Order: sequence, then structure tokens, then C-alpha cells
Amino acid sequence: MTKNEELPIEEGSKAAPERFYIKVTPDGPYFVYGNPPLDQEIIMPNEEGSSWVYQKGKHFDTSENPVHLCRCGHSKHKPFCDGSHKHADWDPKETASHQPLLEGAEDIDGPTMVLADNEKYCAFARFCDACGRIWNLVQKAETEEERELVRHEAGHCPSGRLVLWDKQTAKVFEPPFEPSIGVIEDPGIKVSGPLWVRGGIRIEGADGRSYEIRNRVTLCRCGQSSNKPFCDGTHASMHFNDGIPLEKGNEEW
Ligand code: SF4
Ligand code: FES
Repeated sequence: MTKNEELPIEEGSKAAPERFYIKVTPDGPYFVYGNPPLDQEIIMPNEEGSSWVYQKGKHFDTSENPVHLCRCGHSKHKPFCDGSHKHADWDPKETASHQPLLEGAEDIDGPTMVLADNEKYCAFARFCDACGRIWNLVQKAETEEERELVRHEAGHCPSGRLVLWDKQTAKVFEPPFEPSIGVIEDPGIKVSGPLWVRGGIRIEGADGRSYEIRNRVTLCRCGQSSNKPFCDGTHASMHFNDGIPLEKGNEEW
């Protein structure tokens, strides 16, 4: 098994303990090891209707080791695999590059912070659209209030497409996540989203090679991404719906 310390780790991220990892199987589900908590994460809007916070919903049992999570989009028992991938029409092939995300990112320079942006990883969750869009906000953020708004939007980007730096300290702002997985639901556009893998859980491709370890990663679960195993936002255009009822809790972050 690959040791986490031998793998590239994105700046600002930290590897989860090695018992946590996800194996992408060649033509079936994700095998999730280490029993990380698995909960619905429901995207909730602010007053202007932009994505703003997550609310925890249904909790799923992950006491088996490994747990098999559907990645073809066809299971009748989502988020778990029920074997439907064997007869489904989908292409399981991984197409994502192993290039570190930040190497392929564009930097947007502001007076106090820099925003790195790698569009390929966008999960279309739209936290970046609020209050005039993050790409504009970062270019004028000077006061603590303006900086907090940019930090809020970048930190809620589930895929880690957006990574934010403080210029003075040269430190990355990353939300401190425990190893855990979210099942994203996006009722604002009536779709179900990707698996949101948090806290530096290692993801091993079907060929045995692991991807860069990152604090925030979104994995395709509709089966249609063109950047597999990662989400590229296609679930929105194909109206992916996992059929799991939304059970909203009270917890926001
Ligand atoms: S994944 Fe990140 S960049 Fe893409 S829409 Fe969501 S918040 Fe914006
Ligand atoms: S991956 Fe097995 S049913 Fe979807």
C-alpha cells in the first residue's frame, strides 16, 4: 500500500490517518476504508438565493470496512452500490490527470490575498457567486469584513477548485476538516451532487496509483463526469437525482 508521506500533498492540506482511504474500482463502486462518517450535506442559500452554507441531513451507516459507494449513478440504494453498475450504460474509465491541482491553476491577485483557480475541478456548487462573485471580491478585499467574505466563499467550495492565500503570512486558508464524506444535495437547482471527501483522505485510482492528497475533493457519483474520478459539474446538466429524501438537521458550518 502507498504510504501517505510518499504522496504529493497540496499546500494547506494534511493527510488523514492511513486507515482512511478510497479505492476506485476499475468498473464499479468506490471502496471506502476506515469507517469515515457519511452524511448528506444540503446546500442552503442566503437571502439573495446564492449557495451559502451546508446543512447536515441524513446520516448513513459506514460500520462495514470497506463500504461500497455507487459511482455509476444507477444504484437503487444510493449512496451505496447495489451491483447495478454491471448492467448499466456508463464509462467507468478514469480520465483525471495526476498533475497537482495548483500547478494547473490560474492566480487572481488581490491587495491582501491571492486566489488560485483550477476550473477543471468545479463541482458547480456556486458558493463563489454570492455578493458579486469571488473573482471580483478578492481583487478589492482589504478590510477584515471584505476578507472574511472571500474566505467564506473559497472555504465552502467543496471541490477545492478555489484555494486562497494570505499575502502577508503566505499561508493557505483551509477549513479544518476531520476525515469524513458528504453526500451533496443541491435543492436550489433540484439536483444531487458529488461525494464530498474531506480531511485529506487518500484516493487510489484503479491502476493502484494515488492522486494528490487534498483537504477538499469532490468525487463523481452520477457516472457522467469527464474528469473521473473527480466531479466536473455534469450532474447539474444531466439533472442527477439520487432519490434520497432530504432530511434537514440543524447543524450549519
Ligand atoms: S465548486 Fe467551487 S468554484 Fe465551482 S461553483 Fe462551487 S464554489 Fe464555485
Ligand atoms: S457503482 Fe455499483 S451500482 Fe453504481
